[in-house]
Amino acid sequence: MARMIVVDRDGKEHEIEAKTGLKIMEILRELDYGVAAICGGLCSCATCHVYVDPQWAARLPKKQGDEQELLTELADYREATSRLSCQVEFTEALAGIRLTIAPDT
Ligand code: FES
Repeated sequence: MARMIVVDRDGKEHEIEAKTGLKIMEILRELDYGVAAICGGLCSCATCHVYVDPQWAARLPKKQGDEQELLTELADYREATSRLSCQVEFTEALAGIRLTIAPDT
């Protein structure tokens, strides 16, 4: 377990303890204020979109082609630190990460 800070769509900050080894999406979809994750992690829906706090963004694994492509299609909502949370594993190294749930598209 490790700590994660999640900012919901109302701007409210939640500090949670989450299991490491899961995709971040798997953690966020269990929260009332989390993500829909409609495709279940197949990198085809973008409903798991989050903004990663800039100080953490560089510590995440690089985006692969599918994630990059899908984020490109979100032009209106995409930011420099946008990630699809189904493509990022929550590891001990990410303990304390701060994420903001992106708006519904
Ligand atoms: S859950 Fe669908 S793209 Fe991440």
